[in-house]
Amino acid sequence: MNYDSFYRRSIDQPEAFWGEQAEKIAWFKKPSSILSVDKSGFYRWFEGGEMNTCYLAIDYHVEQGRGNQTAIIYDSAATQKTIKFTYSEVKTEVSKIAGALKSLGVNKGDTVVIYMPMVPEAAFAMLACARLGAIHSVVFGGFAPHELAIRIDDAKPKVIISASCGIEFDKVIPYKPLLDEAIHLAEHQISHCLILQRPMAHASMVEGRDIDFATFVNDSAPAECVTVNATDPLYVLYTSGTTGKPKGIVRDNGGHAVALNFSMQYIYDVKPNEVFWAASDVGWVVGHSYIVYAPLIYGCTTVFFEGKPVRNPDAGTFWRVIDEHKINVFFTAPTAFRAIKKEDAEAKLKEKYDTSSLKSIFVAGERCDPPTLEWLQQIAKVPIVDHWWQTESGWGIVANMMGVEQFPVKAGSATKPVCGFDVQILGENGQKLGANEEGYVCIKLPLPPSCLPTLWNDDERFRSSYLNKFDGYYLTGDGGYIDEEGYVFIMGRIDDVINVAGHRLSTGEMEEIVGSHKAVAECAVVGISDELRGQRPIGLVVLKDGVSFSEDEMENELVKLIRDQIGAVAFFRNALVVKRLPKTRSGKILRKTIRQIADGETYTVPSTIDDPMILTEITNTLIHRKVGNAFQ
Ligand code: COA
Ligand code: AMP
Repeated sequence: MNYDSFYRRSIDQPEAFWGEQAEKIAWFKKPSSILSVDKSGFYRWFEGGEMNTCYLAIDYHVEQGRGNQTAIIYDSAATQKTIKFTYSEVKTEVSKIAGALKSLGVNKGDTVVIYMPMVPEAAFAMLACARLGAIHSVVFGGFAPHELAIRIDDAKPKVIISASCGIEFDKVIPYKPLLDEAIHLAEHQISHCLILQRPMAHASMVEGRDIDFATFVNDSAPAECVTVNATDPLYVLYTSGTTGKPKGIVRDNGGHAVALNFSMQYIYDVKPNEVFWAASDVGWVVGHSYIVYAPLIYGCTTVFFEGKPVRNPDAGTFWRVIDEHKINVFFTAPTAFRAIKKEDAEAKLKEKYDTSSLKSIFVAGERCDPPTLEWLQQIAKVPIVDHWWQTESGWGIVANMMGVEQFPVKAGSATKPVCGFDVQILGENGQKLGANEEGYVCIKLPLPPSCLPTLWNDDERFRSSYLNKFDGYYLTGDGGYIDEEGYVFIMGRIDDVINVAGHRLSTGEMEEIVGSHKAVAECAVVGISDELRGQRPIGLVVLKDGVSFSEDEMENELVKLIRDQIGAVAFFRNALVVKRLPKTRSGKILRKTIRQIADGETYTVPSTIDDPMILTEITNTLIHRKVGNAFQ
């Protein structure tokens, strides 16, 4: 197939293109229009269509005679356990959880928060919500109670589903006390929590509120799929924006199903019946789209992996899973491979396993640095496909579309725009930039199916965050350029968002938290380069006059504060006390310059800087504390 003509048609005739793709899923009622504009002025896909995403992912396959095919393989390196579930078995589990939720009053349009580790019940719970037309909001297990509370207050769930604990390497992390604390912090009242008791930790239950998941579900009558509109929300997934209030990304049912189904064939080039493994977490968008929904909608076997790429028990774990479950297409974040490379640079552990089932490896979630790409190419000997996307899109925006036409790889580029995404580079005034000119990476509207139609209960923030900067365009928040051959290079965020080990976090939020400490007069938090995690945040703080904290005490307090408020995943390890922050004459903190200094990059002293001497002071502090690359 020829990429150019296929892609062109998706941009020039979006309705014809996506209308054809929509024929590939089993609607209860076909859409009356392919693309329309709603009363808020936002584009909507497949208006009038009726369907159910859980039906597409499970029941449809059972009806088509795939009931005995393995749908989900739960491989827990953390607990050394593997369980396989056929499509029929998943249907039984999911129907019962749906019945349990229904008996607790959960109906179409209600919200349910899921705060769980990587246990298969997390996927079943998501599908059970979809079955009832309820909207799930999964919160990543690594988030602290404060973050969970913010999401509870925004999503206002009728029920929360959680578990007694998660496992991180050899550490058991009790989730229930975190949940209890979050419910205590939140204003929204919770009537019921379904708690999965895991053998490694027993959660104490609050009488009248907490219900034992296993017993209650087992005793529940199964519930059938409810009909929903294509434009009804399937889920809300919160992601970091530039402030302490995360953005509730809304995903609709119809566009999501059509786009994900399309992606399996044309991006991942996988076949129904094949085994697809995305090593991520259901708390992130990759987990939603490529651990749960896409592989199941498409009829693949998906792997639900609980564990880490290293030390579970060693850096050969991924290769072991690929061999054991005969993975055909594998997807993870580059940071996972950096961790493996660090411990097994010569890939000796890989030699123990037969990985010949593997057709390709996809990476996303952060920039794939060329050394990691090259290392992987050498050791894996299959195509390594970097693809760029966001929680907001729910699927790949730029990729080497393996099921269309395979292009030669250029290190540092995720290759070309995926069908439906009219990716353009704009300058500060909205002008289109030429080849190799770096600017704002934008997508000309309409966005293709599956992309967010709006933010949860916040049309205005949707407009101000994404649409208002350039009329007729969606602002991705990334900077980059397109070369003369149409390859897209994503160079990093242009806002206060960073990626730490594939986890999207807000330095703006961290600044708010650090700034809330009673001793801090002002502060800046920036993301600096980190060999393993890609980026990590550091803080520079100016103390109030007369503060008696020592620099070490201050750092310890602030590190603990971020850990308590956001979670250990923030990996905030340094808060450096400085006398002043570098600013422009109008008072804007020069965060980019701070980052450049810390990364040891050459930088130009901004002409608007208030006092250039501060840059030397910052450099000396970083060198003295051995933080970043400035001292090397
Ligand atoms: N629940 C509770 N705590 C969690 C957690 C979770 N789901 N995930 C991470 N944490 C904690 C860790 O235990 C650690 O705590 P500690 O500081 O007390 O030790 C902290 O958060 C930092 O975790 P992380 O950054 O993951 O570091 P790590 O050393 O534990 O592991 C990697 C490093 C690279 C192996 C790991 O980050 C990884 O596998 N990354 C891939 C991420 C990924 O798949 N992202 C999805 C995007 S596609
Ligand atoms: P998330 O919403 O968590 O998926 O994070 C989205 C952000 O991660 C993007 O806006 C990019 O900054 C970054 N990102 C994701 N994938 C890639 C990639 N392949 N290359 C470069 N950056 C990426």
